[in-house]
Amino acid sequence: MYSACVQDYAQWRDVARPLLSASIAPEQMEWRSSVRFEPLASDGAFELTPAATPLRLSRQLIELLQTLACYRQPGRWDLMYRLAWRSLQKPRLLEDAADPDVHRATQMASAVNREVHKMHAFVRFREMTDEQGDKKYYAWFEPTHEVLRLGVPFFCKRFPNMEWMIATPDGTALWQDGELKYVETPDRASLPKADAHEGLWRTYYRNICNVSRINPPAMRREMPQRYWRNLPESVEIQTLLREGQSSFALRQREAMDLEMTKARAMQRALTDLPDYSGGPTACRRCDIWRNATQAVLGEGSTSAAIMLVGEQPGDEEDLRGRPFVGPAGRVLDDALKTAGLERGELYITNAVKHFKWQPRGKRRLHKRPDASEVSACNHWLDAEVSQVKPRIIVALGASALRAVAGMTDSIESARQLQIPHASGAQIVCTYHPSAILRADPENAHQLRAHLIGDLRRARELAA
Ligand code: URA
Repeated sequence: MYSACVQDYAQWRDVARPLLSASIAPEQMEWRSSVRFEPLASDGAFELTPAATPLRLSRQLIELLQTLACYRQPGRWDLMYRLAWRSLQKPRLLEDAADPDVHRATQMASAVNREVHKMHAFVRFREMTDEQGDKKYYAWFEPTHEVLRLGVPFFCKRFPNMEWMIATPDGTALWQDGELKYVETPDRASLPKADAHEGLWRTYYRNICNVSRINPPAMRREMPQRYWRNLPESVEIQTLLREGQSSFALRQREAMDLEMTKARAMQRALTDLPDYSGGPTACRRCDIWRNATQAVLGEGSTSAAIMLVGEQPGDEEDLRGRPFVGPAGRVLDDALKTAGLERGELYITNAVKHFKWQPRGKRRLHKRPDASEVSACNHWLDAEVSQVKPRIIVALGASALRAVAGMTDSIESARQLQIPHASGAQIVCTYHPSAILRADPENAHQLRAHLIGDLRRARELAA
């Protein structure tokens, strides 16, 4: 059994290389993290005789390992060694996204890259003047992961002519005369807390920030509160957020009212048709209505070239009375955006207008409508098609395909077909957004790509 204590990628690499060359399996190795700026300790790892053949690790793997080394968690060194070891046995390991080690490494690397991005966005320099009267700039940053070395090159390019220092609890980067050095972090008490520009910066920030455009949840997501204490503008942010909150709520209510008005207009259009007495709201053609809160009708543009047909409302849709406003709706919105489609220019509805569910504890679990229920509800879907007269009908998933084409083919095969609708519209069949939510990460990625591709095709056909 070997063990080593390392603190960064370079040290890990120096220990791992001879171990890998000597074919020491991951189970024979124990990795520990050392405290920063402690000399490297290792037990026995360097006495190994390297194998004759040199190690061949791909550029992609080395870059991934460098990123993983910054992930602040002790298990990183084991995972890195396992990945390097296994890549030597299976050179295309990294292409296997479903492999648990690769999957974990990808998640960790994304977290590190996000943190680098946060460092670029949230480092704030404060001005200091030394004894000679020269100006220097100093920033304090507390990253979640050890990203100082990954984040610093950005500042070297951005401020090449300034003398600056970025201090973190893990170490400090110093940029002097175009040269970068890493040193131990000085005592924080000796560093400046504010500078003469602070007031100016806060006033500037307040003025450039348009409260009416703040989206508070998005702002909190992009600028987590743990960064605030090192931002001079944080005092302003609190006030701006409070003001933004009420303006955001107002804007949301207005947008919602507008959508509801459109939806109601469509409902009226449906119930106004001669043989739709009462409309789907009063429909008793099957029994699903008994347990549903309300009928969820289609909404959107009544002159849309593209009609999207889902299966049936989900839990959230049933409560809010609008189609695709729950988790599947968020996947759909995202895919529509990527495919270059605006939700407002489409007509969105479901094959079945009431929510069918079964109780599971306190939750209402979606239950797929059966063929007779889909067929009973076709009455309303046909009315929508004759009202809207879309050129393209996108069937999202199997129930929608059954409703618009009477077909029971798999989505995989129906996607390849040109299917005409009785109205003359063309049917484009694709995966339902819920299938993406249910799939494992690798499949979800594939299904999402198909959904976006099919929506793009629908857009092109409609044009
Ligand atoms: N799934 C659907 O098919 N339709 C909705 O409206 C919501 C989820």
